[in-house]
Amino acid sequence: MFYLWCPIFVPKPVSNTKNYILAIESSCDDTSAAVLCNTKVLSNVVATQEIHKQYGGVVPELASRAHQQNIVPVVHQALAKANIDKKELSAIAFTRGPGLMGSLLVGTSFAKSLALGLDIPLIEVNHMEAHILAHFIDDEERTPPTFPFIGMTISGGHTQIVKVSDYFSMEVLGETLDDAVGEAFDKSAKLMGLPYPGGPLIDKYAKLGNENAYVFPKPKVDELNFSFSGLKTSILYFLQRETQKNPDFVAKNMNDICASVQYTILEILMEKLQLAVEQTGIKQIAIGGGVAANSGIRGRLADAETKLGWKTYVPKFEYCTDNAGMIGIVGYLKFKRGEFTDQSIAAKARYAIGS
Ligand code: KG4
Ligand code: ZN
Repeated sequence: MFYLWCPIFVPKPVSNTKNYILAIESSCDDTSAAVLCNTKVLSNVVATQEIHKQYGGVVPELASRAHQQNIVPVVHQALAKANIDKKELSAIAFTRGPGLMGSLLVGTSFAKSLALGLDIPLIEVNHMEAHILAHFIDDEERTPPTFPFIGMTISGGHTQIVKVSDYFSMEVLGETLDDAVGEAFDKSAKLMGLPYPGGPLIDKYAKLGNENAYVFPKPKVDELNFSFSGLKTSILYFLQRETQKNPDFVAKNMNDICASVQYTILEILMEKLQLAVEQTGIKQIAIGGGVAANSGIRGRLADAETKLGWKTYVPKFEYCTDNAGMIGIVGYLKFKRGEFTDQSIAAKARYAIGS
């Protein structure tokens, strides 16, 4: 007869001494492992899966297979870089969701097995909460936001505005109804013949172009929600029209097209942020996600500091894109609260903040 053995951890009182958390992230196409000592990241290893480039987007089945190949070496490297033996670990934190199910399963089962083998607590982490709490990773060059603040996560998979009242008291104020903002960048870039991911290239060419050269319509979406699929369609029709007249249109006007596309996307983001500030009265804005690397959004936020009196926060780039460091900080915060999970935990492809 078989019994399902689920260890129940009696939380030990957390002392002020060093707690080492191993964190694992595998929600999409980056396999990442990090080791934290309390709020400090000792190592943050990310294996980015190059295989998706040739398909112009993430292929879920290939992503989960690549996670399987990467997970052991990535965890091994993270421990080696941190100079920590696995016997010294206090707990293991992992991304439970949201994300691609096949990808999440790899990190979840690995974390569960290792925690079981080492007989240490297991901590589940919501990836979207982690993007926001990445601001609390120890960083000598930055101070974290104070509560309450508005978090905006902008990446290839998500676009969300969240009111953050405390570490684990978050309310989603708005999110995308279709494509994520990173997808809007990447799909627009693809229409211009640029390789995946096109966001950084649009950013690069936009610096050399005129943002008012072409006008694209902004979607009318209620309240703090977003929609980007219509923008992609209008860019497609615009490019078809212009290339019919002049086959070299894209090549000749690449900088202006990129600048105009980026301008439209940033206008959409900034208008929603402004509305969030009006509705909540909160002027502290903390952004994260891969699109936070965009030089245009950084410039617009810097302007808002001087013109609108906002205080804005952008974490170090390695903590903006998908990484296990941000999973580890949530792991540490939950470790301090004694919030552990047992071996019956399952990955969750759809996992809303606060659910
Ligand atoms: O957070 P991330 O690494 O992965 C996801 O969770 O999706 O974000 C990747 C996204 C891609 O869509 C990429 O094009 C976009 O972030 N991105 C940028 C820039 N750097 C990365 N978009 C615009 N400008 C950039 N500089
Ligand atoms: Zn992400």
